[in-house]
Amino acid sequence: MRVSVIGCGHLGIPHAAAMAEIGHEVIGVDLDQAKIDRLNAGECPIYEDGLPELLSTHTATGRLRFTTSLAEAAEFADIHFLAVGTPIDADGRSYDTGQIFGAARALAPHLTRSTVIVGKSTVTVGTSRDLGALLVRLSPAGEDVEVVWNPEFLREGHAIDDTLRPDRIVVGVPSARAEDAVRQVYAPLLANGIPLFVTDPATAELIKGAANAYLGMKISFINGVADMCTAAGADVQQLTEAIGLDPRIGRGGLNAGPGYGGGCLPKDVRAFTASARTLGATEAATMLRAAEEVNESRPSAALKLIEQTLGRPVDGVRITVWGASFKAGTDDVRESPALAIAALMHQRGATVTVHDPHAVPTALRRHPELDYCEDLEDSLTAAELIVLATEWPHFREADPKALAPLVADQVLVDLRNLIDADAWRMAGWTVRQLGRPAQE
Ligand SMILES: NC(=O)c1ccc[n+]([C@@H]2O[C@H](COP(=O)([O-])OP(=O)(O)OC[C@H]3O[C@@H](n4cnc5c(N)ncnc54)[C@H](O)[C@@H]3O)[C@@H](O)[C@H]2O)c1
Repeated sequence: MRVSVIGCGHLGIPHAAAMAEIGHEVIGVDLDQAKIDRLNAGECPIYEDGLPELLSTHTATGRLRFTTSLAEAAEFADIHFLAVGTPIDADGRSYDTGQIFGAARALAPHLTRSTVIVGKSTVTVGTSRDLGALLVRLSPAGEDVEVVWNPEFLREGHAIDDTLRPDRIVVGVPSARAEDAVRQVYAPLLANGIPLFVTDPATAELIKGAANAYLGMKISFINGVADMCTAAGADVQQLTEAIGLDPRIGRGGLNAGPGYGGGCLPKDVRAFTASARTLGATEAATMLRAAEEVNESRPSAALKLIEQTLGRPVDGVRITVWGASFKAGTDDVRESPALAIAALMHQRGATVTVHDPHAVPTALRRHPELDYCEDLEDSLTAAELIVLATEWPHFREADPKALAPLVADQVLVDLRNLIDADAWRMAGWTVRQLGRPAQE
């Protein structure tokens, strides 16, 4: 099929590459000319495992190309995926759907034949209906333009795998014709046994919000329990393993840490909380808000653990933070807890150097006040404390004996429970892990 992907960001680029991989002819569209030029040259403007290879393979064959022209995309494609951003609005609660309606208004005059628009962005319930009405009104093809909602569940760092082998594909469809179009475009995935869940558009929109709100609550739940473990001298890691064995609870997504971040979970929990309030589900809104409050408290909870470990305030201390991205496998630093903690320590008078294997350039743009170092060993020069804040595998693999001579003081606070603490302690380090007993 000939498909377009409108919006080439963390969602759109992997989706466009994956659609080419499953055999479609794909045109990606973005407003950002510089980004489009890099993509057409086979370069990947974001860091995502496996994406550069897929992009260069399919741009080289011509099966995947990029443009800034929606007219060209409308002429070329019969099905358009909408993957533009939905950042949080100025009110800090609902989605700003300006990019969605902006793209639709610009595309509509070019829709002269029967077309299906497949919304993938995360939106407030009701957006699909409003978008459909707008497109019917503004498009020459009128009623022959239909909107389906197909929320995306990919995890950054696993974007390619999650797009080619998702747990499920959810689509909210207004008609049998629209459902047929979705079945056709995803046929190679469906043939591999990926379940297709067909529902109405409002339910599809709410499924996405509910999924991310639940994941956020799960993380806040275990982080709240980690605070209880810290106070009681118990071990959150063992607790998690034990409760995770219950299939009603499950182990997935249940890791104590510095809080959830990124371009999705924080805003999705915020917007779902606001939706609950708008829809009159007051108790649900209170429950969701509590999860947000736990998450908002994570930087200060981390600071408390760090200062307990140091035995003094961070003011004047040289601290190296390992990790800038909001999680491993991506250079995305939107609402990154690692950077929030680094910035908080900097505000409190610490001299902070941040090391990350891939996210230094993106972090520097957001927090120019911090110092950065792309080399792990150089990042440690004269450090009095290491704070491990993002779960990159090379931190787990770091050799505590080899690193010991590089630092001023052998002290490490592991906010991800990532390292083998015993091995580090054997090498002479003082190690403190989140929600786990202090051991000398
Ligand atoms: N990032 C993820 O892992 C992820 C996962 C699931 C769902 N989502 C959802 O997907 C959507 C996109 O997220 P993202 O992280 O890719 O955002 P992003 O900000 O990385 O990318 C959005 C892109 O859309 C482009 N754009 C804006 N208006 C446009 C227009 N009129 N025409 C063409 N391009 C336009 C922007 O220039 C930008 O490149 C959001 O709703 C997000 O919540 C993201």
